[in-house]
Amino acid sequence: MASPTVSVALRVNGHAHTLDLDPRTTLLDALREHLGLTGTKVGCNHGTCGACTVHVDGRRQLACLVLAAAASGRIITTIEGLAGADGTPHPMQAAFVAHDALQCGYCTPGQIMSAVACIEEGHAGDDATIREYMSGNLCRCGAYPGIVAAIRDVASAGAD
Ligand code: FES
Ligand code: FES
Repeated sequence: MASPTVSVALRVNGHAHTLDLDPRTTLLDALREHLGLTGTKVGCNHGTCGACTVHVDGRRQLACLVLAAAASGRIITTIEGLAGADGTPHPMQAAFVAHDALQCGYCTPGQIMSAVACIEEGHAGDDATIREYMSGNLCRCGAYPGIVAAIRDVASAGAD
C-alpha cells in the first residue's frame, strides 16, 4: 500500500512550490531531494552541526529538524536565494571570500545563513558575542578566525 502523502506549499527564494510529500519529510530533504536545492548541506541530520541552516520567516532554522509540512506557507530562504537578483553576491558571501573563511566549504552555506541572521539578531557586537551566537555552526576545517572576521566586517559596515 502506498504511503499517504500531504500537500505542502513551500515558498523558497521567492518561488512557490506545491509538493506531495510523505508527512515525515524534513524541510532539508524537501529542499535537496525534491527541489534540487543542494546548497543546503546535510551534516549530522540531528540538529548539532548547523550545516543545514536556512531562514524561515527571516529567522535561522535547522532544516533537518523542521518537517516540510510545518514550513508550509512560510517564507524560506536558502543559500541559493541570498545573492542579488543580478547575481551580485550578498555582502556576507563576499566577506567570506575576502577573509578566506572556508577550506573544504562544506559548512559554508550554513555558516553564511547563520552569519546573516547573527547580525540581524543584533548578536555581532564583538568577537566573543559572534563566537557565542555562531557556536551552533561547526567547521571541521577550523576556519573560525576567518568566519568571525567576515561577520565583524559586515556588521561594522552596516553600523557605519
Ligand atoms: Fe542539520 Fe546538522 S544537518 S544540524
Ligand atoms: Fe570545511 Fe568548514 S570549511 S568544514
